[in-house]
Amino acid sequence: MRETIHVLLSEEEVNQRIAQMAAEISKDFEGQQTHLVCILKGSIFFTCELAKRLTIPVSIDFMSVSSYGMDAKSSGVVKVNKDLDEDIEGLNVLVVEDIIDSGRTLHYLLRYLKSKNPKSLKLCALLDKPEQRVADVAVDYTGFCIPDKFVVGYGLDYAQRYRNLPYIGVIEFDECKE
Ligand code: IMP
Ligand code: MG
Repeated sequence: MRETIHVLLSEEEVNQRIAQMAAEISKDFEGQQTHLVCILKGSIFFTCELAKRLTIPVSIDFMSVSSYGMDAKSSGVVKVNKDLDEDIEGLNVLVVEDIIDSGRTLHYLLRYLKSKNPKSLKLCALLDKPEQRVADVAVDYTGFCIPDKFVVGYGLDYAQRYRNLPYIGVIEFDECKE
C-alpha cells in the first residue's frame, strides 16, 4: 500500500483561522485568566499556535487519553494515560482538541472535567467531522468543519506518523501496481 497525502487546508489557511479563533476567545474571556487543557498528542501544534495568539492571561496543562478497543474507531470507553497536573476547581477551563469525530472521547472527557468543578468549561476544536457524530458534544469554537476523510498533519497522525506536516492533508491508500 502506498500512502498519498493531498493538501486539504494549507498552513496559511490554518494559521489564519487560528488567529480568528484566538481573537474571538480573547474577546469572550477578556480580563479573565484562562486555563488551556491540551489533549495530547494531536492537539499540541494547535495549542501552541492558539496560545501564542491569545491576548488574555493563560496557563496550560496537558492530558493524554486513549480509547479502549481494537478497531480504529473510538469505543467510547476512555482511559486517562496522563491526568492534569493542577487542580481546575474554580478555573475558566478551555479544552483544546485537534479533531472531533464520533464525539465519544470528548463526551467522556468533558464529563470528567466537569466533575472537578471548574468555574467554566468550554471546548475548542480545530477540526470537526460532524457526519460521524454519535455522542452529543457542544463545541464552543470550531476551526473547520471537514468531510468524513482521514486527515493527518498539524499534530494529527496516522500510526504516529505525519504529525509534523505543517498543513492538514487527506491520506489515501493506493494499491501498489508492481
Ligand atoms: P472521537 O472519540 O471519535 O471523537 O475521536 C476523536 C479522536 O480520534 C481524535 O482526538 C483523534 O485522535 C482521532 N481521530 C479522529 N479522526 C481522525 C483523523 O481524521 N485523523 C487523525 N486522527 C483522528
Ligand atoms: Mg485527539
